[in-house]
Amino acid sequence: MTQKSDLMQKIVSLCKRRGFVYPSSEIYGGFSAVYDLGPYGVEVANSIKNIWWKEMVQWRDDIVGIDAAIFMHPKVWEASGHVSGFSDPLAECKECHTRWRVDHLLEEIGVSADEKMSEQEINKIFSKNKQKIKCPNCGKRNFTSAKKFNLLVKANLGNFTEDFLKNPVYLRGETCQGIYVNYKNILDTTRVQVPFGIAQIGKAFRNEITARQFIFRTREFEQMEMQYFVHPKQEMKEYEKLRKQRLQFYLNLGIKKKNLKWHKHENLVFYAKEAYDIEYDFPFGFSELEGVHARGNYDLSQHTKFSGKELSYTDPRTGEKYIPHIVESSSGVGRILFALLCEAYNEEKVKGETRVVLKLSSQVSPVKIAVFPLLTNKPSLVREAKKIFDFLKNDYMCEYDHSGNIGKRYRRQDEIGTPYCVTVDFDSLKDKAVTVRDRDTMKQDRIKIEKLKEYFGKIL
Ligand code: GAP
Repeated sequence: MTQKSDLMQKIVSLCKRRGFVYPSSEIYGGFSAVYDLGPYGVEVANSIKNIWWKEMVQWRDDIVGIDAAIFMHPKVWEASGHVSGFSDPLAECKECHTRWRVDHLLEEIGVSADEKMSEQEINKIFSKNKQKIKCPNCGKRNFTSAKKFNLLVKANLGNFTEDFLKNPVYLRGETCQGIYVNYKNILDTTRVQVPFGIAQIGKAFRNEITARQFIFRTREFEQMEMQYFVHPKQEMKEYEKLRKQRLQFYLNLGIKKKNLKWHKHENLVFYAKEAYDIEYDFPFGFSELEGVHARGNYDLSQHTKFSGKELSYTDPRTGEKYIPHIVESSSGVGRILFALLCEAYNEEKVKGETRVVLKLSSQVSPVKIAVFPLLTNKPSLVREAKKIFDFLKNDYMCEYDHSGNIGKRYRRQDEIGTPYCVTVDFDSLKDKAVTVRDRDTMKQDRIKIEKLKEYFGKIL
């Protein structure tokens, strides 16, 4: 059994060792809170996105997908409230000069605060508790007061006119703004009618100060967001439906129910009707995986006000005109990848040795089938194994592996979560059958080569 306290270190090490996640620009010493996905990380992330897109768009006749640009008109971020209000409360340790999020420092001593509180509100709580809080870096208790720090990342785009400097272009802080500004295009060019949804997967950028917790909180990350436009009277009914669907999504990915929980927002922003997070039990405790929010008509009203464009909806059956309310699902690909790795990590004792195995669901495992020759220096076995790899690769993500002895190859595939390994041995050349090893049970089956597709078709 892996202790929770060790799990973080083990996952970070496995991600680097096996090619799931690398620190960004590592040859230059890395770049704080930015990570690259390696060959296996990108496969898991693509599977997460494909499953999400299938559920959100392909299987629905009321939701369409878009891919909006990362650069948006500067007014978007004024309308959304990000320019004035999208900030974290930070305090500096006067001894070692590191900066910390005050809501997180308070959380660690069991005092609840919200990053959305005003500077004055959070400072009131902070000064009451300051003497109880140690700097996580140097252990001293000597902080400045909290100051709000805007999270939007400015971009150096456009010409440097007076106007540009006053209204800088930002890298988008959330993908959903690209959805709101396309609401009218979708209504005008597709056949959707309220209730309908718009889904998008794409990068978002935030100037996060707390660079901890591996890929949990990064400065560049990928969001999967779906905004569902509804009649005001239907908002809470649709919201409850969405909450159920979103929890089920994580159960379907293989996350255990006991490791997921709902967290209700106590300090709601003024326009929100209700907001819940789905939290996962990460190595550092339950933390947000996804937000499911009932946002009222705030977003479309704000964009109407700032753009001067009419964003109301007229019901074609009743003629009723109104600004649709929005219920949203907003999740992060990196956080889901991290949660899946935590969930899947297992250590087992096998014949006195420790076997590390990622028990990922085959829907998200980076490789579905690994194919090996038993001995790598026997051309007849290598030829047959490559033929089997070619035979299966069109239907499944396969890997041909011919490095090291067979034990090492099994261990490597266990560590990256490959559910099945196919081994070609000398008997295969005569009986046209191969050994198929199951990752979880380590049981081996002898299967005719011509029946392999049928066999995997049933179990994968
Ligand atoms: N449109 C609503 C919105 O963006 P959010 O709670 O700020 O809401 C939604 O973010 C999700 O995006 C989070 O639940 C998380 O999965 C992901 N996310 C947010 N900030 C992140 C960061 N700095 N690093 C990685 N993922 C992040």
